[in-house]
Amino acid sequence: MSDSSRTLLVTSALPYANGPIHIGHLVEYIQTDIWVRFQKLRGHRCHYVCADDAHGTPIMLRAQAEGITPEALIERVGREHRADFADFHIGFDNYHSTHSAENRELAETIFERLREGGHISTRTITQLYDPEKGMFLPDRFIKGECPRCGAADQYGDSCEACGATYSPTELKNPVSAISGATPVEKESLHYFFRLQDFHDMLREWTRAGHLQEEVRNKLGEWFEEGLREWDISRDAPYFGFRIPGTEDKYFYVWLDAPIGYMASFKNLCEREGIDFDEYWKPGSEAELYHFIGKDIIYFHALFWPAMLHGAGFRTPSAIFAHGFLTVDGKKMSKSRGTFIKARTYLDHLNPEYLRYYFAAKLGSGIDDIDLNLEDFVQRVNSDLVGKVVNIASRCAGFINKRCKGRLSDSLPDQELYDTFVRAGEEIARLYEAREFGHAMREIMTLADRANQYIDEQKPWVLAKQEGREAEAQAVYSQGLNLFRVLMTYLAPVLPAMAENVKDFLNIPPMTWVNIGEPLNGHTIAPFRPLMTRVEESAIEAMLAASRESLEATPAPASAPAPEPIAPEIGFEDFARIDLRVARIVRAEQVEGADKLLRLTLDLGGETRNVFAGIKSAYDPEALEGRLTVMVANLAPRKMRFGVSEGMVLAAGPGGSELFILSPDAGAEPGMRVK
Ligand code: MSP
Ligand code: ZN
Repeated sequence: MSDSSRTLLVTSALPYANGPIHIGHLVEYIQTDIWVRFQKLRGHRCHYVCADDAHGTPIMLRAQAEGITPEALIERVGREHRADFADFHIGFDNYHSTHSAENRELAETIFERLREGGHISTRTITQLYDPEKGMFLPDRFIKGECPRCGAADQYGDSCEACGATYSPTELKNPVSAISGATPVEKESLHYFFRLQDFHDMLREWTRAGHLQEEVRNKLGEWFEEGLREWDISRDAPYFGFRIPGTEDKYFYVWLDAPIGYMASFKNLCEREGIDFDEYWKPGSEAELYHFIGKDIIYFHALFWPAMLHGAGFRTPSAIFAHGFLTVDGKKMSKSRGTFIKARTYLDHLNPEYLRYYFAAKLGSGIDDIDLNLEDFVQRVNSDLVGKVVNIASRCAGFINKRCKGRLSDSLPDQELYDTFVRAGEEIARLYEAREFGHAMREIMTLADRANQYIDEQKPWVLAKQEGREAEAQAVYSQGLNLFRVLMTYLAPVLPAMAENVKDFLNIPPMTWVNIGEPLNGHTIAPFRPLMTRVEESAIEAMLAASRESLEATPAPASAPAPEPIAPEIGFEDFARIDLRVARIVRAEQVEGADKLLRLTLDLGGETRNVFAGIKSAYDPEALEGRLTVMVANLAPRKMRFGVSEGMVLAAGPGGSELFILSPDAGAEPGMRVK
């Protein structure tokens, strides 16, 4: 296959929908995004998809604790995740949810095919059950004394004191972390995926160049321990997809999570008319890459290829695992203030500082990477501001002021320019191999050379000499041309800065392909500040805010000016409005309407059809099943799309800033709001 005809589908692991994105997560999303942007700049057809991982017990319990439905929780967290990613310039082509129609359908298909292939078995197992809460307890929700060393307060799967691993039924004096009750043993029928059926296939696949060497070695150990069947069912109550043909069994979150990669892509395919099967059929020409953290290798390098293979789909081209983030050499810590949420970072610092810093630290292996805050300040200031931006700010003033923005007609040092262009091949090779740190070093060496060139030529001296203006112009033009090449190389890492540079240099979007031609006789736009230095005080403020945000409840991103209060009314006026709790049983797009969703509301026996102007704020799927409040006695209104029989209540200025009201848990459809 020729290099120019590559088609790629790339994913990052799906973040859980029960908590905020933090800077540890960002290692992965930034790493993937840089790689994807690089592929696109090289002219390849590349799609990058992701989603929220919305199922599982922790999400169910978290929603209960907040008194909202899991649907409402994942809807809110999904919105926060999307905003965080967008602000870090993570350029997903699609961001979906595992709690989606596409994912349900694909999960069922894969399960059915595995069952037809004889790879699903069932048997009754005994587990700890919380009699008060009425649910089976996942290992992490049981605490007790370690059966080996007796340490108190250990989880149901392993002991943090002595490192022993065991099954939760072995814990001494166990208690449910949810209710505090003493768990009892209880039997239930479970579904299993027979991983051992894929022993030979996996043995071969894991050695066929799809994995990093360290990962392959790790897998070798797992093979020695023997592949065992994998429990893929959970009993109700559970938030997930019900297993077809059962009443109260659900797919374990990790079964449908990786299928979420396919589902997000399918959703994109439907929107953009891409041929889904072309990508997923066995022997597909498309390349498929999954970026993941080293903690989830087992799922991606064993279960996932086996599931795909067993269900008649293609397997991944490669799994790219990375290490974990530490801050100042230690695990992220809430008390040290180093458990930094994406949003807290954004409140204080430019996202491109972190993108560059991670790039400078990342390699192709699975070693942990450290964010050393002193080094962070140092490196960003010296590399990006001191070396790269400096070239442009040194050169632009003269060109703008003395040459009306016009660059010289030819380069004084074509050879130097060509050296920069030729270096692109090695830099591209490094990006492709995910050796970003090495690539950054190459680019900074070039930046040093550009600055050195300007230092040697001393154009500011030429500029003051009679009749040597054209020479000064040529040197500054050379500098700006070198700067353009450097920014092209940095564009995968610094997309926002590259966009500003594009405007300032007055050029079409940068691509790797067209840098061979320098900008001669070209007119640039006025210089604009590209990046300022990192201030130590901003880092201090971020750490302080991270410590505080532990106690503080999350505040809205920006508080808009409040709307003035409407003129006073009497109680009788209010009492005439009949507000009711309603369940949204269906939410659908309305053909031809750009603001409206069609809602089918259950008022506890009575069903209403309501058109609501909330399309820009809500994904219809996320609304289904949740409770809200409606005006039930509003005169029906005839609209272009049908009759609207009432109104749902939402707050906010509009657009994506609209928030539907929900009653607290326990409210029932039809109850009057008074
Ligand atoms: N939901 C699962 C993934 C399902 S993929 C089908 C999950 N979610 S997660 O939110 O816990 O993590 C998402 C990704 O972020 C994982 O790849 C994980 O390894 C990565 N990271 C989470 N914390 C991290 C660090 N502190 N450092 C680096 N990466 C980290 O796992
Ligand atoms: Zn122990």
